[in-house]
Amino acid sequence: MIAIACDHGGYELKQEILKYLDEEQIAYKDFGCDSTEAVDYPIYARKVTAAILDGSCEKGILICGTGIGISIAANKVPGIRAALCTDCFCAEATRQHNDANILALGGRVVGGGLAVKIVDTFLHTEFSGAERHQKRIDLIEG
Ligand code: RB5
Repeated sequence: MIAIACDHGGYELKQEILKYLDEEQIAYKDFGCDSTEAVDYPIYARKVTAAILDGSCEKGILICGTGIGISIAANKVPGIRAALCTDCFCAEATRQHNDANILALGGRVVGGGLAVKIVDTFLHTEFSGAERHQKRIDLIEG
């Protein structure tokens, strides 16, 4: 199960991501927001991080205008590794190396076509499980 949320700056891109998830029959929970009316991105980051930490969702997607604010907010939560990606190389590497559990996107940065490929890469790439990467992830958590 994928948790997805956005602020007003990410709303339009989220609609394109939801279309991809529907087409691919990938199950998701949409935590809002539901329009381009201004909202506060930390609230939506918190909804998705909570869904991951309570085990109801395995990965998350967060979208704001740049992807920066919403990833900063998500990364304040212990156990969350949110990766802001603008290309497929980083989406693949952050799953393989960082075992990132949230993908952050900038709705005003990447177009729908690229964003869908980034999401597809993120969702279909496994953590390598390499000892060196696990050690570094453990060091992040302290
Ligand atoms: C909202 O205007 C914008 O600040 C927000 O979407 C995001 O880009 C913040 O980092």
